[in-house]
Amino acid sequence: MNATRTLLFSVFIFLSFSLSAQNTVGLTIRDTSGPVISRNIYGHFSEDLGRCIYDGFWTGDHIRMDVVEALKKIKIPVLRWPGGCYADQYHWRDAIGPRDQRKHTVNTTWGMVSEDNSFGTHEFLQLCDLLGCQPYIAGNVGTGTPEEMENWLEYLNYNGKSTLADLRRQNGREQPWGVSFWGVGNESWGCGGSMTPEYYAGEYNRYSEFCKNYPGTRLKLIASGANSDDYNWTEALMKHIDRGRTWGISMHYYTLVGSWAHKGSATQFTEDEYFRAMVSCLRMEDIVSKHSAIMDRYDPHKRMALVVDEWGIWTDAEPGTNGAFLYQQNSMRDALIAATTLNIFNNHADRVKMANLAQTVNVLQALILTNKDKMLLTPTYHVFDLYKVHQDARLLPIQYYTPDYVHGMEKIPAVNASASKDSAGAIHVSLVNLDPAKKISVRVNLPGIPFKTVQGEVLTSSRFTDINTFEDPNRVKPAVFNGAKKDGADLVVELPAMSVVVLELK
Ligand code: AHR
Repeated sequence: MNATRTLLFSVFIFLSFSLSAQNTVGLTIRDTSGPVISRNIYGHFSEDLGRCIYDGFWTGDHIRMDVVEALKKIKIPVLRWPGGCYADQYHWRDAIGPRDQRKHTVNTTWGMVSEDNSFGTHEFLQLCDLLGCQPYIAGNVGTGTPEEMENWLEYLNYNGKSTLADLRRQNGREQPWGVSFWGVGNESWGCGGSMTPEYYAGEYNRYSEFCKNYPGTRLKLIASGANSDDYNWTEALMKHIDRGRTWGISMHYYTLVGSWAHKGSATQFTEDEYFRAMVSCLRMEDIVSKHSAIMDRYDPHKRMALVVDEWGIWTDAEPGTNGAFLYQQNSMRDALIAATTLNIFNNHADRVKMANLAQTVNVLQALILTNKDKMLLTPTYHVFDLYKVHQDARLLPIQYYTPDYVHGMEKIPAVNASASKDSAGAIHVSLVNLDPAKKISVRVNLPGIPFKTVQGEVLTSSRFTDINTFEDPNRVKPAVFNGAKKDGADLVVELPAMSVVVLELK
């Protein structure tokens, strides 16, 4: 048995090398039972920052229905709010009750702007109801108290008679919302309070003690996790927090082209900067693997989730806009980053149970940009639209060998992929070619997976700097893909340069 396995593996390696020399990917997809890809991997983040909430989701006195309809189309499963850094300065009582009587506060984190708090708890939860998604609220540890957090949860989730539940009713909401996903602070190593992991673990235990499961709602508590590759943070949390009452630990990682001081433009960049972005994006694989390995030692049955509740590319803000508002355009490069990262998350579905792209509308790697009453869908939006087929599907393990995308003296894997099988039995394969100049052939071997038809869609553009603008909103958009065909029992795909392809096999 072992000898046969070794022989098969050697044949796979041999074929892989020969195929890669010919600029061809050899990919094997097996129909063995993998974990379910949680729909929440396709989640989003909306901080009270810049024009994400005000202008993005909320104008005047109402929720923007054009934005809601667009997000419903991609089946947004979960939305995180109110931060981010802002969560640790947010006091929920400032933003309930009649809007003209709400407190005016200063958003000291993002631009020192005045907040009228017209968008608060009720408005956020109404937004989630309209979207048909789960709310994920980040509670305040940095400037809050366990009592404030406990009260907010009672206000949200208690169905009986209490002064706080009655206040909720008086403010227009009879039934409790049953908010389940609950973050205990945000970036507590930084803007959330500059804590050490051991200190935070103590705080987490204290705060979470008062996060009660009101009848009908079991909380899914998420501890504030590591900054990218700070593995010590995860180790300390796994060691010191009460894991029994914890659903997940978060982690934040942003794709960066240069340094935090010089992040570079979102729209005008060279191939060198394109390549740097891809190197940075691909680090997510290593970072997720290493955090998962630490969690595995304490939680071998993978009961706890790794929650990547902030990710995406972070560039300089658009020239002429308020730098603290983090408004950036979104290019074909961003679409490739989104697709690659989602492939990584899919392939780690055993541990990554939620992820939230930063940040939905008008901030960082946004899905939607708005300009007064106009709205446009970014290339990143289209990736989420194509990839929604993976939500709640069963991951199919893949093995592949890819040629490299060579840039100067450096190289990265040109192609990445993931595959899943949905409840109706359809197989979906998502393929990304990062090489901006070379098309690549993919031969997919599917042992034990008979299929009759293949169809798909492709997202590509002639330049990686291509963007959608209010004048030209459909420059980057998906098209029907005709480059995949059945060849015997195999599938053969001609992947265009710089493209995202999602195929359905039936
Ligand atoms: O997404 C912008 C900011 O990035 C968030 O507020 C914070 O959590 C992170 O540092």
